Amino acid sequence: MPGPTPRPVAYLDHGATSWPKPQQVVDAVVRALTDLGGNPGRGAYAMALDASRAIFEARRTCAELLGVPDSRDLLFQPGCTAGCNLMLKGVLKPGDRVVVGSMEHNAVARPLEHLARLGVEVVVVNADSTGLVDPDDVERQVRAAPARAVVCQHASNLTGTVQLIGDLADIAHEHGALMLVDGAQGAGHLDIDISALGADAYATSGHKGMLGPQGVGLLYLAPDLDAQTQIEGGTGGGGSESPDMPPERPDRYEAGTANTPGVVGLGAAAAFVAAEGPEQRRREAELTRRLHEGILEIEGFHVLGPPPGVPRVPIVSAVHDRVDADRIAFALDRTYGIAARAGLHCAPWAHRTIGTIDCGAIRFGVGWSNSEEHVELALRALQEIVSS
Ligand code: ALA
Repeated sequence: MPGPTPRPVAYLDHGATSWPKPQQVVDAVVRALTDLGGNPGRGAYAMALDASRAIFEARRTCAELLGVPDSRDLLFQPGCTAGCNLMLKGVLKPGDRVVVGSMEHNAVARPLEHLARLGVEVVVVNADSTGLVDPDDVERQVRAAPARAVVCQHASNLTGTVQLIGDLADIAHEHGALMLVDGAQGAGHLDIDISALGADAYATSGHKGMLGPQGVGLLYLAPDLDAQTQIEGGTGGGGSESPDMPPERPDRYEAGTANTPGVVGLGAAAAFVAAEGPEQRRREAELTRRLHEGILEIEGFHVLGPPPGVPRVPIVSAVHDRVDADRIAFALDRTYGIAARAGLHCAPWAHRTIGTIDCGAIRFGVGWSNSEEHVELALRALQEIVSS
């Protein structure tokens, strides 16, 4: 029988997933599993109705947090990747032209590569050396020929760069294009008002900055955006005899039994982020700045992305002149108990843009559970690893 999994001394991989979860989230998941066991929307007995109500409440809490006026436009999805697939494959058709930034994660890059094989023209706009997509470059492309959509991440999972979504949305709309956003690294870490941002679709993860469980994400679709369903099936409620998915949201896009524990956990997480968010973001920014500046002081390290002082989500990735990223991650884990992620971070486009496709990078993702001690331990460890 294997022993218990050792927990990290310092968990600095919040860019991959947040850990630990707030106790409210754990309690909500346990409550869903113990007390809300009925199938939401599929029964008129008390426990099924309570499960439906809990999902309704969770959706409303998430919508309030993210600035979505009508919570029915906010869809629960199995994750951000599923949300990105729906917003891209449900909207783009062969013959369409799409303009996309070069820092995208595979959750966007791979569906677009797939769509390109089906006849969608994909125009990639290169970001600068800090990972920023220049809105003027995007404007040149949407001016050159009609585009169905501009696609851009809200923040980079490699460099932490925050993209100028408001400006990109204005440009897209001026030229009759949609603005589609992958917000995986944004929600929770940034103060987000989706309506004010001008996004026509915004996908995000539930388990990163949102602090919810894995296996649940969110997709906002503007009320007038008619995306093709990607999954058809049972939706509960009435109308089962119809061969087609119902037109109403959210049912249209949520076929199959809901992930009630995940959704209810995400609702509790959104309530936690709503209450703690401003203070949490201030602390994350402070720890991120200290980590960033501290790594720059260690000989041989180069930090990717914007320089200190320029806003970024709490991600700091670096490369070292002599010691490779995998070796650093291994030593951080085995010798110091520090969890950090090395490699290409499922973002080869971004690594190619920044010039690290051949070496990868060591990435630290700061989050709500981190302290100054975690950051100081990481800096001491990095210093010792590259000096040994
Ligand atoms: N997309 C996640 C990351 O950046 C898993 O690590």
